[in-house]
Amino acid sequence: MKTLCAFILLAVGSVLTSPVENSKASLMYPYGTEWGDSKNPKSDDGTSPAISIPVPFTFYGKEYDSLYVNNNGVVSFGVNVSQYTPDPFPLDGGSPFVAPYWGDVDNRRGGDILWRQSQDAVLLSRCTEDINRYFPEVPFVATWALVATWDRVAYFGSASKKVNTFQAVLATDGKISFIMLNYDDIQWTTGIASGGNAKTGLGGTPAQAGFDSGDKINYYNIPGSRTPEIINIGKTTNVKEPGRWVFQVDEFVIGVTTEKSDCLM
Ligand SMILES: *[C@@H]1O[C@H](CO)[C@@H](O)[C@H](O)[C@H]1NC(C)=O
Repeated sequence: MKTLCAFILLAVGSVLTSPVENSKASLMYPYGTEWGDSKNPKSDDGTSPAISIPVPFTFYGKEYDSLYVNNNGVVSFGVNVSQYTPDPFPLDGGSPFVAPYWGDVDNRRGGDILWRQSQDAVLLSRCTEDINRYFPEVPFVATWALVATWDRVAYFGSASKKVNTFQAVLATDGKISFIMLNYDDIQWTTGIASGGNAKTGLGGTPAQAGFDSGDKINYYNIPGSRTPEIINIGKTTNVKEPGRWVFQVDEFVIGVTTEKSDCLM
């Protein structure tokens, strides 16, 4: 009888919490193991295995056929990333980074890093519709996408319950490629090894967001990066939807670039 009661309480608890999570997650693409996501191991500064992709992802003129989803808020090509204190873009290393929120995530303290690559028709048409809306001048139909989600992740050295939820969506047709960064709830900016405060997750060298093609020319630091203001990234946008940043990253297109930089201002 006791066991039964406990079970019912647990069941009621999860029914009560899930609608709240969903209502906050409107900009987020669906994620979770029920969507076929893989989960990174619980490991400080850890990473996914190398993920081979069947459709090449072009990042400023270079094609990549594998990538990593790194715990510290970065999707990388070529090499995995364990660095926990972010540097501003462009980096010296020359490896391409997509950084929804580069900071010292610790999934042992809380949260999960989830990812799936997909050619699912429903997901691809959502990517296509979103991107066509933001970039009406670009003829684009997604044929492959990656959804990488940092779900309620804690920071290194955390002595609080603060967690961050954010996402990177990569989409390509094999030639043209886009990245979309989605922010749900951002509560901390800094782990303690980056000078942050254990109780607040603030201070020190805060998180960095944006992308770096690795060529020293094509990169973007989202305003507020590596400052306390990055905590408000969920209120900023370059596509008129606060909490979302979208970039075309396949190559430097002169005609389109002018428009893009207007958007970014
Ligand atoms: C990450 O990179 C390091 C150093 O190059 C390597 O030793 C390690 O095996 C890589 N991890 C994965 C999961 O590929």
